Amino acid sequence: MKPLVLVTGGAGFIGSHVVELLLERGYRVRVYDKLVDQVHGGQGPRYVPNEAEFVHGDMRDAARLDRALDGVDAVIHNAAEVGVGQSMYEITKYVDANTGGTATLLELLIGRRAQIGKFVVASSMSIYGEGAYLCDQHGDVHPRLRSAAQLEQGHWATVCPTCASPLRCMPTPEEKPLFPTSIYAISKMDQELMSLIIGEAYGIPVVALRYFNCYGRRQALSNPYTGVGAIFSARLMNGNPPVVFEDGHQRRDFVHVTDIARANLLALESERTGGVAVNVGTGRPSSILDVAHIIARNLAVDITPEVLDQYRVGDIRDCYADISKARELLAYEPTVSFEEGMADLVAWLAEQSADDRVGPARAELEQRGLTRAGRHGGPATASTKAP
Ligand code: UD1
Repeated sequence: MKPLVLVTGGAGFIGSHVVELLLERGYRVRVYDKLVDQVHGGQGPRYVPNEAEFVHGDMRDAARLDRALDGVDAVIHNAAEVGVGQSMYEITKYVDANTGGTATLLELLIGRRAQIGKFVVASSMSIYGEGAYLCDQHGDVHPRLRSAAQLEQGHWATVCPTCASPLRCMPTPEEKPLFPTSIYAISKMDQELMSLIIGEAYGIPVVALRYFNCYGRRQALSNPYTGVGAIFSARLMNGNPPVVFEDGHQRRDFVHVTDIARANLLALESERTGGVAVNVGTGRPSSILDVAHIIARNLAVDITPEVLDQYRVGDIRDCYADISKARELLAYEPTVSFEEGMADLVAWLAEQSADDRVGPARAELEQRGLTRAGRHGGPATASTKAP
């Protein structure tokens, strides 16, 4: 009989794709998910296939989680609260759910270590802070967050910490020092480090997957704290222009959710791999303006993005993945290009109705001083358009 895999967060955006792939490959799957309202809108487990067993539960409910671990051969841990901005004021919620939830799971896994062949934990590129950069004079450099003084001047580019000259963004390897810049990122770093340390101490093979910017079908469109792809799509579908922070030339590594799901399968199945953290991205950077334009083009709408010269506190400028370790250890190769993936996201969107709840979410960030105007931007509140 094929192994039984417990997928925490298996009803969510990434988790549900992992579940589907596991079932396709003949695994038996049990989903453990809290069905957070902000993501699921009280609608129940819409994306959990009938062939998977579903357990409704909170990661901190040790008794329930322990029962869900009965008979399980491997665990894929994707359950987490995921709003970066929201984590900066709902601190307890993020620390409890992400750090506390993982702590609860790890304590249970210690007692069940003989049973667990592999533990795969979802980490995040957010733990790097800024990506890796190259200075013509000083070689590899690891700048910290840009200062408020710099951003208030509307100077967006990251500069060399030694000579202040402009930098070239490079692929970020796993060895780059970690500088998490939000409570969410700290909680993800906790999840990764705690899992690796407990795995090492108790002989449980652990693989932490550092997801870059994931997008695709089932992205929580009405969750205002979701990634930029879903936010821009919801704006455009409701006839509103996407609101672009900074100048829109900041870059990320957009990785399709099916590639992330496959990385989970490879991590689960790779027999020699344990005690490692691995980037899961595409190795290709795209700008935020590219995202706005490609979604607008695919939706066939002619709406110009609003570039307001405002910035979000704690945002990095650029980060994209060096995926050589994933290639080497997991034989991982991204298969969905940015163009194909965004076209597929839009095709799915056409069947959805997405509330545009971005306005209220931005208002919350503004009230707390977490979005600010750069030199050319007006006061954040004055230039906000109602959704
Ligand atoms: C963050 C996390 C990442 C997480 C992701 C989605 C960091 C460094 N990374 O990524 O782990 O997976 O959130 O939860 O914290 N933008 C706009 N307009 C908008 C929204 C966003 O211009 O309406 C810009 C942002 O300023 C940023 C870029 O788009 O420069 C990407 O934002 P987002 O999708 O939230 O992801 P990250 O901040 O990169």
